[in-house]
Amino acid sequence: MAKSSATFVCADCGAVYRRWQGKCEQCGAWNSIHEETPAASGAPKGLSGKKGRTVPLVSLDTPTQALPRLKTGIAELDRTLGGGLVPGSAILIGGDPGIGKSTLLLQALAKLSLNGTSAVYISGEEATAQVQMRAKRLDLAQAPLELGAETNLRDILTTLDTGKPPAAIVIDSIQTLFADHIESAPGTVSQVRTCTQELISFAKKRGSVMLIVGHVTKDGQIAGPRVMEHMVDTVLYFEGDRGHQYRILRAVKNRFGGTDEIGVFEMTGTGLSEVSNPSSLFLTDRNARASGSVVFAGVEGTRPLLVEIQALVARTSAANPRRAVVGWDAGRLSMILAVLDARAGLGLAGCDVYLNVAGGLKITEPAADLAVAAALVSSLGDAPLPPGTVCFGEMSLSGDIRPVAQDQARLKEAAKLGFEAALAPRLKTAPPKAILVKTIATVADLAATIMGTD
Ligand code: TYD
Ligand code: MG
Repeated sequence: MAKSSATFVCADCGAVYRRWQGKCEQCGAWNSIHEETPAASGAPKGLSGKKGRTVPLVSLDTPTQALPRLKTGIAELDRTLGGGLVPGSAILIGGDPGIGKSTLLLQALAKLSLNGTSAVYISGEEATAQVQMRAKRLDLAQAPLELGAETNLRDILTTLDTGKPPAAIVIDSIQTLFADHIESAPGTVSQVRTCTQELISFAKKRGSVMLIVGHVTKDGQIAGPRVMEHMVDTVLYFEGDRGHQYRILRAVKNRFGGTDEIGVFEMTGTGLSEVSNPSSLFLTDRNARASGSVVFAGVEGTRPLLVEIQALVARTSAANPRRAVVGWDAGRLSMILAVLDARAGLGLAGCDVYLNVAGGLKITEPAADLAVAAALVSSLGDAPLPPGTVCFGEMSLSGDIRPVAQDQARLKEAAKLGFEAALAPRLKTAPPKAILVKTIATVADLAATIMGTD
């Protein structure tokens, strides 16, 4: 019989290898592969022998008892979730340590409990007194929320299963939990996976909402939230720059709603407060007369969002000019620089280029291409865009500017915030009256418009 041998698992993505290696081929992480003893001794032998029970099958239109979603009362969180928490589901909240996951979930659970929903907060990181202190600071000490400080999964599940199961449960964090039937240490891939599986099956059986916190880890010793993404129903990431007070909650997977929906928060002295009009927030303190500063009319999920994109272009004689990007994809910046050089002859290959999305926001939309290109051209020619102008449009390798989705929503948001002009690709319908749209068909067109030769 084959001896059950140890396996090597990547703590970042969970890929399994037969022997140790320095780099994970699946996710590209270095030094993230560690030895783990398999959870069960020996592989399963197949399902021969005993017969299973018959499970009832239903048709698509069989009426079932759908429980209503639980509204947390934090509108930004509810919208990101697709309209509230779905009973019986498991939600992963990932993010860097210290970004505000515990604060957000404590606020959400306290609000739920104040509205009469039974809620339990299990902390594996902080003692109950510390959570109480935080609740006091957040002015939530009166909430009828139950606290527990425990890391043993068996004890946690037994506690939750005593009496009526709570409607909402927070586990903070999954990396501190351990299942005592598994040998490996807390935070290893097998512990994290086993604990997650047990918590999910509890949620499904008892109809509770399970909110699981997972820290994004850097050192490779501790399993990150990616190893559990496929198991849960919804994955939210809490992002933001420590230097800024803005925090963005982003849905990257959602079985009960759309993804790419974001919630915007501000970290204040008394916890996270919602930002219901993020466009005005990301544009505060902007110097509209500076060259290299362009307002991008973006859309995040269903919501239009205006953000400032800043570029600084400086001639250099270095053989390898510097390229530094914050808040946008570096590969996409290289593409835009190449297209601007090849199709508009701007000579950016001999320049240092710095690109920054203001406010610590990360943009992933290709519709930002034109705004990025406009910022680069504006900085290169030291030619500020006329104040009150927004930009959007996708760029192709041929240098054409392509139409993007939701152009009307973008222009309406710009009009609402007092913008008067837009550089945009061909529109499908007439723009709002308040905005004068200059159609940009190619990058050469863009360069001529900004440099003033048009
Ligand atoms: P926390 O929720 O503990 O982060 P996580 O659980 O993601 O590790 O947030 C910690 C940070 O938030 C900490 O650096 C201080 C800051 N903070 C405030 O600015 N105001 C507050 O009211 C609270 C509770 C935290
Ligand atoms: Mg925490």
